Parts: sequence; C-alpha cells; structure tokens
Amino acid sequence: MEHIYLDYGSTAFPKAPGVGQAMADYIDQVGVNIGRGGYEAAYHTAEVVLDTRERLCRLFGWNRPESVIFTSGVTASLNILLKGFLRSGDRVAATSMEHNAVLRPLAQLAQSGVEVEIISCERDGSLPPERLEEALRRRPRALVMTHASNVCGTLLPAEEAAALCRRYGVRMILDCAQTGGVFPVDMLGWGVDALAFAGHKGLLGPQGIGGFLITGEMAMEVTPLLAGGTGSQSHLETMPDFLPDRFEAGTLNLPGIFGLRAALDYVERQGIHTLRQRSIARTDQLLRGLARIRDIRVVGRPGTEGRGAVVSVDFLHLDNAQAAYELENRWGIETRCGLHCAPKAHQTLGTYPQGTVRFTPGHATTEEEIDRAVSAIEEIAKEREGFTLHF
Ligand SMILES: Cc1ncc(COP(=O)(O)O)c(C=O)c1O
Repeated sequence: MEHIYLDYGSTAFPKAPGVGQAMADYIDQVGVNIGRGGYEAAYHTAEVVLDTRERLCRLFGWNRPESVIFTSGVTASLNILLKGFLRSGDRVAATSMEHNAVLRPLAQLAQSGVEVEIISCERDGSLPPERLEEALRRRPRALVMTHASNVCGTLLPAEEAAALCRRYGVRMILDCAQTGGVFPVDMLGWGVDALAFAGHKGLLGPQGIGGFLITGEMAMEVTPLLAGGTGSQSHLETMPDFLPDRFEAGTLNLPGIFGLRAALDYVERQGIHTLRQRSIARTDQLLRGLARIRDIRVVGRPGTEGRGAVVSVDFLHLDNAQAAYELENRWGIETRCGLHCAPKAHQTLGTYPQGTVRFTPGHATTEEEIDRAVSAIEEIAKEREGFTLHF
C-alpha cells in the first residue's frame, strides 16, 4: 500500500532536495569543528555556518547574523529564552493556543514565583487584538506567543502583537515553529525581541537543528541557561557577553547546519510564497472536500484565510484514535491524533479531552492524495463506535 504523508505539521517529509547529500558530504568529506582548530577546513566550515546565519536573517527580516543562535529546535530555544529572562515576581503573558514547548517551561517557572497569565483565544483559535491589549496593559515583562496554532492552523496577529508590546514596554517572544519558511516574518520591521524556529518543519531541513534570533538588547537581559566551552575568552569563568557565543556553549550540530543551509537554499530559490501556495492549495481542497461530510467537525477557521496548512478533524461518532488508526491501516494515510502537545488549544477549540485527527499537507502533497484522503475520511465518518476493525 502506498503511504500518504499528511503529518508535515510534525515534520516535513520529503526534506528539500539536497539536504541529505549536504549532510553526508559534511560527514564524509569535511567533518571538523569550528571555533577550535586553526586550519583551512575549520575556516571553510565557519563560513558555511555564517552563511546559514545570514540566510536565516534574510528569511526572518533580521540584520545581525551573529544574533542567530543555533539550538536543537524550538523547545530548546524557548526554554533558554523563558528561563533565562523571567525571574521570580515577573509576570508573563501567553495565549491559550500555545504548544507545551511554551506551557511546560512556564509551568516550571510558575513554581519559582513567575506569574503566568493565559489569554483565552476564540473558539476558532483566533486572538482578538483588544483582548491581547487588555493583558498587556497589566504590563507583563514578556509576551510569548505562537505565530500559528499547530492544532488548527489559525494565525495569531504577530505584527499587531509586536506593535502593542512596543507600546506597553513588553518584550515579545514569537514561536515560529509552524510559520518559519511558510509565512513572512519581519523581526526588525515588526519589532519582535526574540523568535524561535525549527529547521525540520516549514524550512524543510533535518531534525535536531533550529534556534532563535534575538535583539542585542534582549540578549543582555537573558542569563545563558547553558555554560561551557565556546572556543572564545577561555580564560574567563563566565560565558562571553558577545553573540552568538553567549548562548552557544559546546559543539554545534554541524551536520544539521549543513543540511539546514541546503534547505534554506531551496526555500530561497523556490520562494516561501510559492511553497506556501502549494500547501495552502491542498489545504483548501481538503477543507472543501470535508465540508460536504457529515458526522465530523472541522475545527478552526472556516477556510484558508488566516490559516496555515493544518486541518484538525473531530469524528463525532468514533474515537479519533481509532479513526487515525483506520486511515493508516486501510488507506496508508499518515496523520497525528490526540492533543498535539497543546492541551489548552484543544480546550479553546472545544476538542478536549478527545483531541482530533490532524491532517497537515505540505510542499509535496498531491491533489490525488487529498482526493483519496477525503474519500477515506468520508467512509470512516459514516462508521460508528464498535465497528469491526479491518486488519
Ligand atoms: C507551535 C509549536 N511550537 C513548538 C514546537 C516544538 O518544536 P521542536 O519539536 O522543534 O522543538 C512545535 C512542534 O510541533 C510546534 O508546533
């Protein structure tokens, strides 16, 4: 049976052309570290790393490659930012659409005296700017917000939020896990203080590489979570103040960076607009197909307006885990079911505790694959709890 991969929201597959080769070439033909050795291969590797930082700056509308910090991904980045910035007695605001990459560090911080305010979103996942402003008037020290929900795809008003944060003197941390390489982000133009990105989703790169971009001012307000060797100022007991070394202790994931650079090259050549159009066209097709099916509830906004390529479905007469199992077992359709690491988002959308089956098309999803998915969903939706499993 052919596989129909509809789990791009978790990670993109296939990766961009050239990613695997770039990683293999680095491992087989280069293999050295940077910032340690003084020889040609190390300098060449350092140039590739700098070039990758520059490409990320272009993508996210930023102008300082040294303040692009590499980590393993969004989770590590948000932990570094939140735990390094917030102290006992501080207040922080977040939305009800956040991923556990935000909610769990905040829950830990709440244990050490940080006051956490969760701003409720609407039943379609949207965040009315007036509600956000109300929370910012209480002057939290930071707002941490996802740019798009990983459960229903709804975009949150990042640009307006950044403007409001400027007005109220609040630091803004943006989670771009679902929008990096897909939707335009203008860190400098919008006035975002820090943003976290993952290499393996919309950027079409490998897992295990991601990072954050941070303004020089905010960087000095974040105590480095990690301390260790940087290959610089080794006589000091403390981490260097300058970027990126302030936050990059230890050896970088260089195979990941080489792979990410190849992915960024592809994303730049294709253009994020073209790549987004591909996945949004398939999302539109899926939403239209689902609109005629009874016995399911499609959560989030009604169409593709204000939405990324994420479609969550609640099967009304069937356990969603069973529906996902059937889709895979009988049609080879690969989805993700459950709470998608975002329990409060499901509470907001009215799909807690049952969760949903999430379909996330991507750059390589075909029209035929979506047609087949719609037919399969239609057939399953008609079935009822307790029907015979087909093995
Ligand atoms: C909105 C959101 N934030 C954070 C993350 C965590 O990203 P990573 O697994 O790269 O750390 C994800 C991953 O699915 C996500 O969708």
